[in-house]
Amino acid sequence: MHNRLSVIALAATLTLLAGSARAQAPYVPSEGNLQSRKEFSQHRLGIFLHWGIYSTYAQGEWYLSTGHLDPETYSEAAAGFYPARFDAEQWARAFKESGAGYVTLTSRHHDGFSMFKTAQTPFNVVDATPFGRDVLGELTKAVKDQGMRMHYYYSLIDWIRPDYPKGNSGVAKDPAKADYNAYFEFEKRQIRELLEQYHPQALWFDGQWDQGGRPFDWRMRELYDFIHGIDPDCMIGNNHHSAAVGGETAGFSGGVTVSESLPLEACETMNNNWGYHVADLNYKSVRTLVHLLVRGASKGSNLLLNIGPQANGALPEPALDRLRGLGEWMRTYASTVDGCGVSPVPPQSWGVSTYRPETIFLHILEPSAVPASGDKGVLVIPFQGKPTAVKTFPAGTALKWKADKEGFLTISIPAPDASAMDTVIQIDRASL
Ligand code: GLC
Repeated sequence: MHNRLSVIALAATLTLLAGSARAQAPYVPSEGNLQSRKEFSQHRLGIFLHWGIYSTYAQGEWYLSTGHLDPETYSEAAAGFYPARFDAEQWARAFKESGAGYVTLTSRHHDGFSMFKTAQTPFNVVDATPFGRDVLGELTKAVKDQGMRMHYYYSLIDWIRPDYPKGNSGVAKDPAKADYNAYFEFEKRQIRELLEQYHPQALWFDGQWDQGGRPFDWRMRELYDFIHGIDPDCMIGNNHHSAAVGGETAGFSGGVTVSESLPLEACETMNNNWGYHVADLNYKSVRTLVHLLVRGASKGSNLLLNIGPQANGALPEPALDRLRGLGEWMRTYASTVDGCGVSPVPPQSWGVSTYRPETIFLHILEPSAVPASGDKGVLVIPFQGKPTAVKTFPAGTALKWKADKEGFLTISIPAPDASAMDTVIQIDRASL
């Protein structure tokens, strides 16, 4: 699980300083930024959307590269992008009903196609497609109208523009035309548009791994300062495959210890692809997704769960089905994950626990691993002090318990239903 965590490390920026001193200044988050981090952690489920002209090929979001297409051929997909079934309000309702608190949409992926209204390139959804609508703008409004937060994924890579220096991915390019400084200015102008036109609560960068193995200055701190100069409250995540650095709210942290003071987010696919893939029906069960959510929450992490919408504007039916299943679970159990912090009770063979200052929720995810005693199950967990109540959740039936001097709490529970996704036990205690 941990190697999937993307640490949302709020982008560090001291916006008052200017010039060369700025790049060295330690990041001091704004009050609004700190507040936004708290709000972010109040919702353990987010919906990730990989949507772009690649969806028309239905081969995942890397198809320009994996299909070895030349950029001109690939770009023809823009002229065929007409998502007639796109209904931002319907999407936003489905996300809201799943229990999600926010949505992260690919504003621009590695193919460089912008899913928003931009004056910086004609290669965008408004100018290059017959659909001609600002889908990012429409979705942002619908998502915010549902009371959810809106975040944008933004790729730092561009497989088509000649000024982005070709890295480890993508297709052949003329190295003589590479000009990172020019590309960087283009990105800044686009990011200004995103911030000023749509006011997202977070930006989620990806692609820094593309220049791995060679010296390359991405000028990220400068970019973070630029962002916070426009909106100090904007959170910044970066899927750079290393520990979060000053100025960020996130990074792919495989095997890296992350600061618990930063909000955490793990992203995962529902099937095996981020972008829509017609042949990939290998969807995870609602049970598996609930377990991902609960296991993440026990570590203080959000789950950013991906869907690859189809080119016709529909969300794939198996994805809608998973959203409905999650929603059904969340309607009863949201309070056992949303806003919960890192639990002091370590993971057990039968499951994990989630934590609030006055309550610990035990989540039995593997009922067969619960030791039996007659027709009862027995849970033994390390526990400081005495509970004020131990009961089933949500029914609230009182359970027998015993706290011993060695610091263990033994709870007798009804034998858990072997087919239950998650059996929850609530332990109340005096606030620490
Ligand atoms: C990787 C992939 C990218 C995807 C991202 C999601 O960076 O290159 O296609 O958007 O993971 O986390």
